[in-house]
Amino acid sequence: MIGAGINRIDGPLKVTGRAVYSYERQDAGQPFYGFIRGAAIGKGKIAAIDTAEAESAPGVRLVLTHRNAPKQGAFVNKPTIFDRPHPQLTTDRIEYFGEPVAFVVADTFEQARAAAALVNLTYGREDGAFDLANHADQAEPQATLSIGLPGETRFGDLEAAMSAGPVTIDQTYTTPYHFSQPMEPHACLADWRDDHLTVYLATQTVAQNRIALAETLGLAADQVTVDAAFVGGGFGSKLYLHAEAVLAALAARKLANPVKVALTRRQVFTLTGHRPEMIHRVRLAATLDGQLTGLGHDVNLQAAVAEPWIEQAATVARSLYAAPNRLTRHSITNLDLKAAEAVRGPGELPGLLAFETAMDELAYALDIDPVELRLKNDTAIDPELGVPLNGRRLADCLREGAKRFGWDRRPKTPGSRREGDHLVGYGMAAGIRMHFQGPTGAIVRIEPDGRVIVRSDTPDIGTGTYTIAAQIAAESLGIGVDQVTVQLAHSDFPPSAGAGGSWGASNLSIALDRACQQIRNRIAEAAGLGATPNDILADVGRWFPEGVEATGQTIGQADDPNFKNYSQNTYGAAFAEVAVDIATGEVRLRRMTGVFAAGRIVNAKTARSQLMGGMIWGVSSALHEAAHVDPRYGNWVNGDLAEYLMPVHADIPAIETVLLDDYDEHANHLGIKGVGELGVCGTGAAVSNAVFNATGIRVRDFPITLSKLL
Ligand code: MOS
Repeated sequence: MIGAGINRIDGPLKVTGRAVYSYERQDAGQPFYGFIRGAAIGKGKIAAIDTAEAESAPGVRLVLTHRNAPKQGAFVNKPTIFDRPHPQLTTDRIEYFGEPVAFVVADTFEQARAAAALVNLTYGREDGAFDLANHADQAEPQATLSIGLPGETRFGDLEAAMSAGPVTIDQTYTTPYHFSQPMEPHACLADWRDDHLTVYLATQTVAQNRIALAETLGLAADQVTVDAAFVGGGFGSKLYLHAEAVLAALAARKLANPVKVALTRRQVFTLTGHRPEMIHRVRLAATLDGQLTGLGHDVNLQAAVAEPWIEQAATVARSLYAAPNRLTRHSITNLDLKAAEAVRGPGELPGLLAFETAMDELAYALDIDPVELRLKNDTAIDPELGVPLNGRRLADCLREGAKRFGWDRRPKTPGSRREGDHLVGYGMAAGIRMHFQGPTGAIVRIEPDGRVIVRSDTPDIGTGTYTIAAQIAAESLGIGVDQVTVQLAHSDFPPSAGAGGSWGASNLSIALDRACQQIRNRIAEAAGLGATPNDILADVGRWFPEGVEATGQTIGQADDPNFKNYSQNTYGAAFAEVAVDIATGEVRLRRMTGVFAAGRIVNAKTARSQLMGGMIWGVSSALHEAAHVDPRYGNWVNGDLAEYLMPVHADIPAIETVLLDDYDEHANHLGIKGVGELGVCGTGAAVSNAVFNATGIRVRDFPITLSKLL
């Protein structure tokens, strides 16, 4: 069962509309509807606020502002991140454009939205700092990244290596603000009864958001139930607790009636997190035959004073290639924008876009094949941690990708291949992504009637978690997938590290397999040596009148020797062909091949789908996506899906996604690693490098839009 590319077991529910998402839940009875009014300035204060008109509007039940909002627990900058309380409407200060200034609850959504517009606000606007480039000189070096790794690493003497050359690259790259933008906007239905809060919440982290909500509302964790049975995409933006959940809960409690809140698409831009804009300086020094002697990656990224998110963008350089002299550093520049958060491939996406573009520049400077340059600097030992890179299949990915793509037919001279009105180019890049492991529990129960039920609070955010949980349990118990019922994403189930960081599937699989192992042992003990679950399923009650259950646990990586003795990563290589219109500068991707090694694959179909999605984000990061801040007002200028460009079908030709047959014995006992965000790793740089090969123009300010090529 492990590895089989079976269809999603929740697929029929989804395509028939029977998978019920947070905002559609009807568990709580007739709800009221809440609508958030956001600040129309980027920095300053509320000078005056008049809610009389809104309060007397039809159907209105409640208008909350900073003047009457219930007292809440204070924000705490906990290193665990996703369990941080996020109180709302606490002061008259405004720290970012769109910050909630009023919350209106009414009988219908339309009434709430109309009344929210009737709240009369006078602002005391202050000048803010909204522009990274203009404030980059205020960058503050960071000792520690948000994921706990050191902000700076230094080996040897990079400056000396750069002076010695003989061939060096020293370039600056900029990567823009990105938004996760899941298809399902963030939503919450809150139900308060009998001193207990139940939220049906679109979240990636059940246990963590439960704590965050409890602390925000001043409740004990066991007074809060979180249910996230179906979630329509997350991409990082549903890891954290946001305003819609807190405001729905506050209002439900105050009104003693269920309240539901969904963000509008524009509010997804203002009230959830963004990837910070970054300025990267990449330095490379090499011998004439292409041996790296030094590498450096300095990143300066936007942050907010209130809640700094220090994305690990320079960490990709730490494990990708050997070189004796190394320097990676992160600094932040505080701007008056909302706090940045984890967005699709945090760290690797922007980091590899810059670093692997620089590697391409080096290949041309040396006149060495870009694949050859990467192979030449491959390493089996993590150059900074000094431990083996387990499952290091980078060279396999590079060779397999080059062969499948037909890399040997690449135009060697940039700008040399013309087909009609188009310049055609090939590009490639390497990919690496950290593999994480977080504490996760799962329980397996066999009922006396033979039903097998698997439970964990890990959500399935659309990635296939329901299905892979059934596969793992079926394989481990020796039964059919259709004999397993999977229940996920409820705070009554064993807590997990959530669905993020590409770790949900491996965390859950390990815990689940351990639970199944215990069940197998119990059955063998009770029913006789050699008895398997299958042998007793028809008559469980005979051996276990109350049924039988067991809990399995995955330990956090800090406690796992595998993560001390090895540098845990997944690998990939991407190859792209683009055609650039000579007259307009329009870049079209013609084809792309991605080859990946991510340990043992649990479901070939869902894994491939995720990797393909990641490759599309990569194309997007090279050619399409950027959110722009108005430097005068601090608002997102293109904060909707009409103007925040993401690739559509017409932008994406057939792309080839290849998974190497792999098993990583040093990752865990199942050999599984994460795939969720690997597909994006290096893909953007493959496209950017193809654009250079086509045109001879090197664009270092992403995305590569038309005007930058003219
Ligand atoms: Mo992902 S940005 O870790 O949900």
